[in-house]
Amino acid sequence: MAVRPVALKKSQATSDTDSHLFDTHPEIRLEFRHVREALKQGYTKPFLLVDTEIVRNKVRRFKGAMPRVHPHYAVKANPDPRVLKVLIEEGAGFEIASIAELDILLELGVPAQEVCYSNPMKSRDYIRYAAEKGVEWFVLDSLEELRKIVSIKPDAKLYVRIEAPNVGSDWPLAGKFGMKAQEVDAIIAEAVGLKADLAGVTFHVGSQCRNPENWRVGIQSAKRVFRKMRLAGLDPRLLNIGGGYPVRHVKPIPSIEKIAEVVNHALRDVPQTVRVMAEPGRYFVSDAGFFVCRVVGTATRSGKRWMYWDAGVFGGVIETTEGLRYDVLTDRTGKLVPWNIAGPTCDSVDVCMRDELFPEDLQEGDFIYIANAGAYTTAYASNFNGFPLPDVRVI
Ligand SMILES: Cc1ncc(COP(=O)(O)O)c(C=O)c1O
Repeated sequence: MAVRPVALKKSQATSDTDSHLFDTHPEIRLEFRHVREALKQGYTKPFLLVDTEIVRNKVRRFKGAMPRVHPHYAVKANPDPRVLKVLIEEGAGFEIASIAELDILLELGVPAQEVCYSNPMKSRDYIRYAAEKGVEWFVLDSLEELRKIVSIKPDAKLYVRIEAPNVGSDWPLAGKFGMKAQEVDAIIAEAVGLKADLAGVTFHVGSQCRNPENWRVGIQSAKRVFRKMRLAGLDPRLLNIGGGYPVRHVKPIPSIEKIAEVVNHALRDVPQTVRVMAEPGRYFVSDAGFFVCRVVGTATRSGKRWMYWDAGVFGGVIETTEGLRYDVLTDRTGKLVPWNIAGPTCDSVDVCMRDELFPEDLQEGDFIYIANAGAYTTAYASNFNGFPLPDVRVI
């Protein structure tokens, strides 16, 4: 008979002080009985079980909380066409990082005009291809990228990515992209000189952002850039408040409704002529999925317990390497002891977690159930070392 799974680190204490912001609304999760049902069909390799009705409900909840904000799903979070179809049905737009993502959307009948190309660094070939297919909106965060896009598509609608604080985001994105306020002046001047249609501003507060203030600061900064654009004779009409909306793992989160209070307030004086959009990825798909993998074997070396799963850093469990912690369930009830958790490949970077508490009686063949893992798991997985890609099974 199956033992009820043990939830580890359920309500880990945090140093967050604004406790009134956290866990104010019930968060959804795919019911565990569906995982049991799925396993009755057998197990040959790791899989993500997704309930697309949860995706549907998350889109509706997002729109209900922020009626002014049009969501463009970040395809990178989970590009499974069955997930994308539900998002299309719910009227979402899309944000892409590459032309492969564009092709999936076009295949599903998404109009190219509904797609924003939000990767700040694009090859000439990719820009040309997207432009030929009808994509109109392209992001940039450097003079070089501005000139590159305009040289290929002079009538592109452009939006500039600016820096925003990533404080309190469990997967920060700051540093690689985003212009400083003082650098934007040069972009505006260059756009005017090139007669380019610099028409919007975007920012990203970092993924799994547990600090709504980041959005307030980002929107204030964007409004300052808008004023500069208008003064320079440009016509700003897109405010893209990016992704970052969090889901419940082990730490408390501000609900989308709490984030909406901040966002809606900050948007009050944004003219109706400005289209406001967001790029949620994780928020729409994480809660909809359980990731299931299995213990390949255990080893004890120098007094340290190691556990090797059949999906590690290369097999979908990569976000743990930057400190993100999932709610992991198992069928074991033994005392919690520190384990190092690694993937099955021969690469030494394939270590997901060190000294994490798991039941001491876990052993070869046991299943591992990772809750709320619908985003950035299967999307990251590779065939490295010849291990198979995880399946996506849809309920
Ligand atoms: C440009 C851009 N937009 C949106 C997202 C989605 O972010 P999230 O999944 O945190 O909502 C990302 C994630 O990396 C991104 O790079």
